Amino acid sequence: MHWTNTLSAALLVVAAVAHPTTEKEHKPKLEVHISVADGILKSATDGHVQLLFAPAGTNPLDDTDVTSSPNYFFGKNVFGLSTKHPVILSGGSNDTTDYGVFGWRNVSIDDVEPGDYSIQAFLNIYEKAVRADGSVVSVRFPCGDGAPGIGGYGTPITSLANITVTGKRQIEHLVFNNVTESEVFTGHEIGGCEQGNYEDTEFLKYVKIRSTVLSNWWNRDVYVGANVLLPHGYDAGDKSKRYPVVYAQGHWPAGKGAFNYPTYLDGAFAEAWDTGTIAATNITEARATPKLILVTFRHENAFYDDSYAVNTANIGPWGDAINEELIPHLDSIYNTIAKPYARIQQGGSTGGWESIASVIYRPDLFGVCFSSYPDSLSFNRHQDIPLYTNKNAYLTANGTPIVSIRDFDGNTQVDLASVAQENHWELTFGTSSRSIGGQWDVWNAVFGVQGLNNYPLEPWDKVTGEIYHEAVEFWKPFDLANWVTSNWDSKLKLGEVLKKRINVYVGLHDDYFLNEGVAEFQKAVEAKGGPGWANFTYLAGQPHGGIYNLLPIWDYLDMLQTWVEDHAPDGKTPLPPSVTTPIAIGNKFVDVMATGGHGAALARQAPPTLTGKKASVGRWDPGVKLEAQWIVDGRPKGKPFWVEQGCDVSYEGGKCRELQIEVTGSKRGYKTETRKSNVVKT
Ligand SMILES: *[C@@H]1O[C@H](CO)[C@@H](O)[C@H](O)[C@H]1NC(C)=O
Ligand SMILES: *[C@@H]1O[C@H](CO)[C@@H](O)[C@H](O)[C@H]1NC(C)=O
Ligand SMILES: *[C@@H]1O[C@H](CO)[C@@H](O)[C@H](O)[C@H]1NC(C)=O
Ligand SMILES: *[C@@H]1O[C@H](CO)[C@@H](O)[C@H](O)[C@H]1NC(C)=O
Ligand SMILES: *[C@@H]1O[C@H](CO)[C@@H](O)[C@H](O)[C@H]1NC(C)=O
Ligand SMILES: *[C@@H]1O[C@H](CO)[C@@H](O)[C@H](O)[C@H]1NC(C)=O
Repeated sequence: MHWTNTLSAALLVVAAVAHPTTEKEHKPKLEVHISVADGILKSATDGHVQLLFAPAGTNPLDDTDVTSSPNYFFGKNVFGLSTKHPVILSGGSNDTTDYGVFGWRNVSIDDVEPGDYSIQAFLNIYEKAVRADGSVVSVRFPCGDGAPGIGGYGTPITSLANITVTGKRQIEHLVFNNVTESEVFTGHEIGGCEQGNYEDTEFLKYVKIRSTVLSNWWNRDVYVGANVLLPHGYDAGDKSKRYPVVYAQGHWPAGKGAFNYPTYLDGAFAEAWDTGTIAATNITEARATPKLILVTFRHENAFYDDSYAVNTANIGPWGDAINEELIPHLDSIYNTIAKPYARIQQGGSTGGWESIASVIYRPDLFGVCFSSYPDSLSFNRHQDIPLYTNKNAYLTANGTPIVSIRDFDGNTQVDLASVAQENHWELTFGTSSRSIGGQWDVWNAVFGVQGLNNYPLEPWDKVTGEIYHEAVEFWKPFDLANWVTSNWDSKLKLGEVLKKRINVYVGLHDDYFLNEGVAEFQKAVEAKGGPGWANFTYLAGQPHGGIYNLLPIWDYLDMLQTWVEDHAPDGKTPLPPSVTTPIAIGNKFVDVMATGGHGAALARQAPPTLTGKKASVGRWDPGVKLEAQWIVDGRPKGKPFWVEQGCDVSYEGGKCRELQIEVTGSKRGYKTETRKSNVVKT
């Protein structure tokens, strides 16, 4: 199966982008027409249609995993969809993902093998948001569903249809005739369905507040929630008895409790927690459960099932919402010890990154982190991609695919998905990093600045994998190794501030190669602080997952409690005020926006300029392809020609009175734009 190198005539009209190659006229074999039943949409709707072809007799949603799904996935953006304007999916090209169809794996609809299929379509509805910096985006706002990429609450869907693909010209008709229902919204909770609504139990409490900073930035009400697990013996009325807090970072926890491994709802843990007694085993005597409050956050958003708990130019000031609004609110309603020595950050994977980032950026708030198999701590290795030095995110220097997910058969690595496969799969769920829940896309949103198109400035071409190093450069404040070492001796004094407050665990067989970023981080900080500055544990043969250092859960929690006792003012090694100073705060939203917001995107643009007969092509966002045209004496002269960003061009067309150059920039996800130089009298 392969790409067709043709575009349908309709696509050419809307795309209206000059192409270096000429496309043949092509009649698609299979077209899928999807109309909208009355009452399904409130008004003309923008969004993204996902069309799934599954093996006959199966439900396309049974397996949508990138490593195993037998489905074909096709995605297409829709604009102004209504009962009057159906959407047609046909063909598919890697060049027209804004208006056309993009298919996985790397296929056009014409490439669907003849045979029987169950097909179904889903519509992610986008809402337009005008953010505080003037940037405008169309995104799906999740509502208590944890932001799945497909089929979340309120999604118009078609009925499952059985079709036979003939391999010849064929038109199939589907109808958006139903909408998936919310399970968590009964109509009167604070913030409606946002961040879900769950029933409190005796020990497990669900909190939700409206975030002022996020609501101001998004220009709409945005809520943030927490699941709070109180310890046995907790007495709300006894303010003298206060507890340390473990902030367990990680993915959308829904109503599942306040601790990821295992969740509170898993029987044995909950039974011990609720009774206050860990039952005796052959090796240990019965003992009391730890006197800790366990908290996890609910921060689903337009890009992912959580926000990465930091301030970002694309998702907004979630770090501030959690740290400056939600945590103080929790401190005001529960008997916490609101001091750094009694605040622990922990988590694995996404939560691993969040927990270490929280201590690194907010050493004034949190005492320590126990971070497990964190997302890349250094972009020297973004998973397995040498992001700063490689030319392509999908291919190694010798041209083999870069692997994203691996397994091990003994010591033999088994590759489950490549970076290219995953990125193409995400592209079918949404363009401009809007796959919602796509891992590579949310990294683009968290680590990246805004592009001129208001969406994340992607670090590479999502189709070809070509890395844009200028875009990657903007990621540096989120490269934790770089942030810590470059602020080692700055006024933040992170070398001194963070010493012995960072603990990281990772397995050497990590499914996503995250051990590599940990090793890079270790190398960078130990080059400055020597061994022992932070604590790293690598376990041979271990994959992704499990509790920190694979400790039994109760031993792990005891260790956390001991850390707090040791670092309390009357403990063995009290945490001194000099290391919890606000001077050391990083990731300030004002700084993030200064380099990453819409103003910064506008400021880095420049028109072409002409000096004599020599022209600079201007400044454009990374990845914008440029076509130039000389204007001689007010009229285009010669053919338009492609120019590279950063290159100068000279006019060699002979005599003229007035010279000007026009440069047209185009990029997927961007409006094609023509910029004119000054006019030079020659
Ligand atoms: C996509 O398919 C085309 C045609 O088969 C092939 O040349 C190209 O290498 C594929 N791209 C990727 C990234 O798999
Ligand atoms: C994109 O499609 C063209 C044909 O239209 C093909 O030559 C090229 O290999 C494709 N690129 C990728 C990365 O799939
Ligand atoms: C589709 O086919 C399956 C068997 O492959 C059958 O069980 C199901 O009822 C069919 N659905 C429709 C809508 O015809
Ligand atoms: C619509 O979906 C709901 C579940 O969300 C289901 O109960 C109902 O039967 C569906 N209606 C139709 C016409 O398929
Ligand atoms: C603990 O006791 C159970 C039941 O008596 C037994 O099955 C298990 O093997 C024992 N475990 C150890 C480590 O001794
Ligand atoms: C690192 O942490 C582990 C427990 O998490 C501990 O056993 C070990 O002693 C620590 N190493 C150092 C050098 O502090």
